[in-house]
Amino acid sequence: MRLLLADRLPDHTVDDLTALGHEVVMEPGLSADDLPGRIAGFDGLVVRSTKVNGAVFEAADRLVLVIRAGAGTNTIDTEAASRRAVYVCNVPGRNAAAVAELTMGLLLAIDRRITDNVADLRNGQWDKQRYSKAEGLLGSTMGIIGLGSIGFLVAERAAAFGIKVQALAKPGRSPQSISRAEDLGITFCDSLEELAETSDIVSVHVPSGAETKHLVDAEFLARMKPGAILLNTSRGDVVDETALLAALDAGRVRAGLDVFDHEPGGGQAEWESAVARHPEVVATHHIGASTSQAQRAIAAGVAEIVEAFAAGEARHCV
Ligand code: MLT
Repeated sequence: MRLLLADRLPDHTVDDLTALGHEVVMEPGLSADDLPGRIAGFDGLVVRSTKVNGAVFEAADRLVLVIRAGAGTNTIDTEAASRRAVYVCNVPGRNAAAVAELTMGLLLAIDRRITDNVADLRNGQWDKQRYSKAEGLLGSTMGIIGLGSIGFLVAERAAAFGIKVQALAKPGRSPQSISRAEDLGITFCDSLEELAETSDIVSVHVPSGAETKHLVDAEFLARMKPGAILLNTSRGDVVDETALLAALDAGRVRAGLDVFDHEPGGGQAEWESAVARHPEVVATHHIGASTSQAQRAIAAGVAEIVEAFAAGEARHCV
C-alpha cells in the first residue's frame, strides 16, 4: 500500500511499515486544509490530530483506508468515508495507561494547586499560607463516567490513593467488567444525577457522539458538590464549556481539562479558550496519549492494522 502519515509517529513506524513492503510518506503537520490537495495517489492515510473532512474523500482517487492513531474517530468524517467505501479504523486501548496517568496528574495538580505553586516560585514568591488549604484526596469519592479501558485504569490508580470509586450502573455491562469492578471495590450509582451529587471528583471517559454531547451540562454541574473537581481527558464536547465557565466563575467547581470543544488540529496554531485560562482550571494541550510508551504502542497497532488490511482483514474499523 502507499501510505500517507499526516502526523508525527515514532520514527521507526516508517521503517516498520516499509519493511512490511509498503511505501510510506510521513508529512507531519499537514493541516485539514492541506489534506485534500495531498491525498491523491495514496491507498492509506494515518492521522493523529489532523482532521479528515469530507473534502479529503472527494479528492481521493485510490484511498481505501484511514487509520486514526488513537482511540477516538471524531476527527474523521466517517459518513463521507462510508459514502466513498473507505474503511476508517482506530487503535483502541493502547494509550489507556497514558491517559489515566495524566488524569491523576491533573487531579493532584488541582488539589494541591501545583501549577500555581510552580508559577509563584518561578516568580521568586514564597507564600506557604496560600497553599495550605488543600483538602487532600484520601477518603474522597470519585465518580467515573465511562468505565471502559481508560476508566478502569483511572479507577485502579484512584483506589491506590485511597479514593472510593463509583461509576454509573449500565445495563449490558459484561460479567467480566462487573467482577473487575467488584475486585476494585467500585460501587455503582443508579443515575448520572446521583453520581454528580455524591462525588467529590468526577472523571469523564466516554467517546464523543450524539449520546454523550454535553453529558456534563449546567444541570449536572449544579448538582455537583460545592468545590468538587471535574476531570475531562476524553473529548471536549462531552462537557458544555459555556455551562462549565459559569460554574467556574461562580466558584462552584474546579476542573482539570485535557480536551476542549474547539481544538486546533494538526500543526501549530494560536489558540484561545476561556476555560483553559481560568484560574480554577489546570489545562493541558490534549496530551493524554503523548507519552513515548503510548505512541510506540499506537505505532505497533497501526502497523498491525495495515498488515491485516493488506491481507484482506478489516481490523478495528468503526
Ligand atoms: C485518542 O483518541 O486516543 C487520543 O485523542 C489520541 C491522541 O491524542 O493522540
